Amino acid sequence: MQIQLQQVSKSYADSGQPRQVLRDLSLSLPAGRFTLLLGKSGSGKSTLLNLLSGIDAPDSGSIWLGETCLSQLKEPALTRFRRQHIGIVFQFFHLLPTLSVLENVSLPAELAGLKQIEGQTLSKRGLALLDAVGLADRAQSPPERLSGGQQQRVAIARALICAPALILADEPTGNLDEQSGQEVMQLLLKLSRAQGKTLVMVSHDPEWIPHADQVYRVHDGQLEPVT
Ligand SMILES: Nc1ncnc2c1ncn2[C@@H]1O[C@H](COP(=O)(O)OP(=O)(O)OP(=O)(O)O)[C@@H](O)[C@H]1O
Ligand SMILES: [Mg+2]
Repeated sequence: MQIQLQQVSKSYADSGQPRQVLRDLSLSLPAGRFTLLLGKSGSGKSTLLNLLSGIDAPDSGSIWLGETCLSQLKEPALTRFRRQHIGIVFQFFHLLPTLSVLENVSLPAELAGLKQIEGQTLSKRGLALLDAVGLADRAQSPPERLSGGQQQRVAIARALICAPALILADEPTGNLDEQSGQEVMQLLLKLSRAQGKTLVMVSHDPEWIPHADQVYRVHDGQLEPVT
């Protein structure tokens, strides 16, 4: 799925005054590639991801995911589209404490009303994804029994459950210690590559620059290529 942002602008009201966060920003995300976004705090990185996921809408410009223009989708079609095509990994894991690890992984597919994905039942697929992130033996545990790094790995499995074409990750290691962060990143890159996902990740860690297919810095509302 080819993804394009075309002359996207976004401002927020700040004490009554509009504050422009993104300005005429255009970006092309090649299918199956890893794009890394850098930039200072407050530069608009999360805003950009929220526009890509349709969680927020631009003031002007358009965002295309394949043949679909996000701004032309209304609820509930927008939520349905997001659940089916976009997997999101946040800085904080957002696992539901009353559900088991496996139920957390399957939840987006349950909410999307799916019974099977790529020929597998949800529980079978959920278990296979937990196995891929090294946590098959924790399937029945409540998430709070897991370490931060383990919880983030559960969140990665959850992001992949609906077989999305696009994965968005907003500082996925920001809340983890050095070693867990490394493991989570390597896993995210490995699974995205193996499954041909388009990955867009925000990170403050320049270590990942050599792993990315394209790197941009968000600055003054626009994207500067980093080489
Ligand atoms: N919902 C909102 N309402 C008002 N202002 C917002 C909203 N979301 C973001 N902003 C403002 O937009 C600017 C960009 O915020 P954003 O969260 O995109 O930055 P960021 O680059 O992700 O920063 P960080 O590295 O700290 O996460 C900030 O000035 C922020 O205050
Ligand atoms: Mg942010």
